[in-house]
Amino acid sequence: MYNLLKGKKGIIFGALDENSIAWKVAERAHEEGAEFVLTNAPIAMRMGGIKDLAAKTGSEIIPADATSMDDLNNLVEKSMEILGGKIDFVLHSIGMSVNVRKGKHYTDSNYDFTTKGWDVSAVSFHKVMNVLYNKQAMNEWGSIVALTYMAAQRVFPDYNDMADNKAYLESIARSFGYFFGRDHKVRVNTISQSPTPTTAGQGVKGFDGFISYAEKMSPLGNATALECADYTISLFSDLTKKVTLQNLFHDGGFSNMGVSDAVMERFTEE
Ligand SMILES: NC(=O)c1ccc[n+]([C@@H]2O[C@H](COP(=O)([O-])OP(=O)(O)OC[C@H]3O[C@@H](n4cnc5c(N)ncnc54)[C@H](O)[C@@H]3O)[C@@H](O)[C@H]2O)c1
Repeated sequence: MYNLLKGKKGIIFGALDENSIAWKVAERAHEEGAEFVLTNAPIAMRMGGIKDLAAKTGSEIIPADATSMDDLNNLVEKSMEILGGKIDFVLHSIGMSVNVRKGKHYTDSNYDFTTKGWDVSAVSFHKVMNVLYNKQAMNEWGSIVALTYMAAQRVFPDYNDMADNKAYLESIARSFGYFFGRDHKVRVNTISQSPTPTTAGQGVKGFDGFISYAEKMSPLGNATALECADYTISLFSDLTKKVTLQNLFHDGGFSNMGVSDAVMERFTEE
């Protein structure tokens, strides 16, 4: 490994189980010499193996519902106590749509569900940054990353209201990133990741078709969770200090494709 995060301190949201993108980011951050606090919704403490991850990476866990300002204030204060100073990197790896979970079609949304999913998946990113900004909890040249998906720009019918949530999330990265850069020299970006077999990913209807189509369209194939973690580490490192307000596609080239030979073959079969 490269010691890219030696001496850096972070907060990682969203490691549920070993398939989670955040889980891989935690493992890679640990390998690169970072110290961090792991956090997830209180309910997730009971479901996943986050305690195993904490033991493996020498980290403490602080439960926080990312929609609760009280929980986030507590999380950031305790993290600075535990880590002994300000924060260098934060990963927001959180997504959930109640409409998707309950099988509501996009054209027949339940708006209480819509509001809840929007709060969890998008506004929580604003809330996290609000707390970090107002507590002046980030070190200069720190880095904040959230994970997103290309349905923010293009139509993927079964992605449902998560498409709208991701568009909102990406906009928050730019809007808040301006103030964070101007006032604290902190960068804010989103990584737009390939479909990835995780709990959240597999919750999307037709995920198997979705992921194999993307695999066939992308010249480099789909990016894995571990590859996403590697890319995230580069954005937390000092090698990317002037990258900010960006939505960065990490998708094997999918986002710039029209059609590939592999997909054409499927449609020209006799
Ligand atoms: N899997 C994919 O295909 C894919 C593709 C592009 C982007 N993403 C994004 O990557 C991120 C991570 O998802 P993943 O695929 O690793 O799945 P995952 O299910 O492992 O992670 C989602 C996490 O969100 C957490 N969460 C839900 N509600 C929360 C709340 N109120 N407070 C705090 N945490 C909460 C869950 O506990 C879980 O740990 C999400 O933003 C997702 O939209 C995923």
